[in-house]
Amino acid sequence: MAALLNETDLIDRIFAHIDGKTTDKGTTVWREPVENYHSPERFAAELQVLRRVPMAFCPSAALPEPGSYIARTTVGTPLLVVRGTDGVVRGFRNACRHRGMKLEEGEGCKRAFACPYHAWTYGLDGALRHVPGEDGFPGLDKETHGLVPVAAVQERNGIVFVTQDEPLSDGALGDLPEVLTDDYVLFNKIEFDDKANWKVLGETSMEGYHIKALHNQSFFPYGYDNLNVVELHGRNSRIVFPFRRIEKLRAMPREEWSTQGRITDVHQLFPNTHVSVLSSHAILIILEPVSPSETHWVVYQLAPRIKNGKPLDIEQARKDANFVQESGILEDRHAAREIQLGLASGANSHFTFGHYEQAIGHFHRHLTEHVELLKTKQA
Ligand SMILES: [Fe+2]
Repeated sequence: MAALLNETDLIDRIFAHIDGKTTDKGTTVWREPVENYHSPERFAAELQVLRRVPMAFCPSAALPEPGSYIARTTVGTPLLVVRGTDGVVRGFRNACRHRGMKLEEGEGCKRAFACPYHAWTYGLDGALRHVPGEDGFPGLDKETHGLVPVAAVQERNGIVFVTQDEPLSDGALGDLPEVLTDDYVLFNKIEFDDKANWKVLGETSMEGYHIKALHNQSFFPYGYDNLNVVELHGRNSRIVFPFRRIEKLRAMPREEWSTQGRITDVHQLFPNTHVSVLSSHAILIILEPVSPSETHWVVYQLAPRIKNGKPLDIEQARKDANFVQESGILEDRHAAREIQLGLASGANSHFTFGHYEQAIGHFHRHLTEHVELLKTKQA
């Protein structure tokens, strides 16, 4: 498990940037072909990559007890993900083995899944338990007619990851940073769509170079322009956005320094997930690619059960979550949709990501490597 920079070192680095009017910088410039944002072939390859790597499906807090389930289409596949009586999370294709009817919708908690069509019934482990009028199906082998599982489900650091199809690489999550390790409660989930490529939307969270220009009245009054600490963890990255109030720590003894409430901690989890840890809440965002120019957002809003020894403050968490969702994120979404429209201008053959946008270059480098790996495997 990748360890994050220790808090005091992180704060020292932030203070050095404030004093020197600097920021963390990368060492390379990445040029991403614009074609990769609208080509149907590239999009199809990316979908395959997404199905063949561990992709975040939901926070652990969304499946709080045995029988908790979520039915959702992800990367084009209707899935049913459920926590078993043994506490283990499993994932299945959301289709009855009789005539393919979708078994479940939405989310809830059940002891078994009965198909709405003919009531074939499956256990939380996917096993086919009951077939009404079973004598009408002579020779039916119930053992081989359980729900069809995905290739792998892994639950790590408060997140459930699903690998739908045969993993492209070893499928390990060793490069996953310590993100949602606190005990979180899910207090809201929202879903919406944008007419923009999933990567254009994702890129908006991966750098702070646009804070003053785009978020002048929302985030900038509380934060800094182009002042970030960036850590790369395997395929993932962490982008730290300090609040101006962090400067109050300068007057406090170092032993009492804490980033709690003084930074926005954004983790880009390869390939299409962002986890942001803020003062009173955390958000897990999954950007579901729908078409080269459309994305479906799934946003889970979470609050820690205990923060600084104090019990959960859902109202504060809701207030903060609404602010983020209705100010800065709206601005990012608008920018992404405008960029998508601008692709048709033909002005750019590639987009250039500079030293201040190193996490974006890092993301594209890994995505490109995965697309290449896919081609090699299919050759
Ligand atoms: Fe932004």
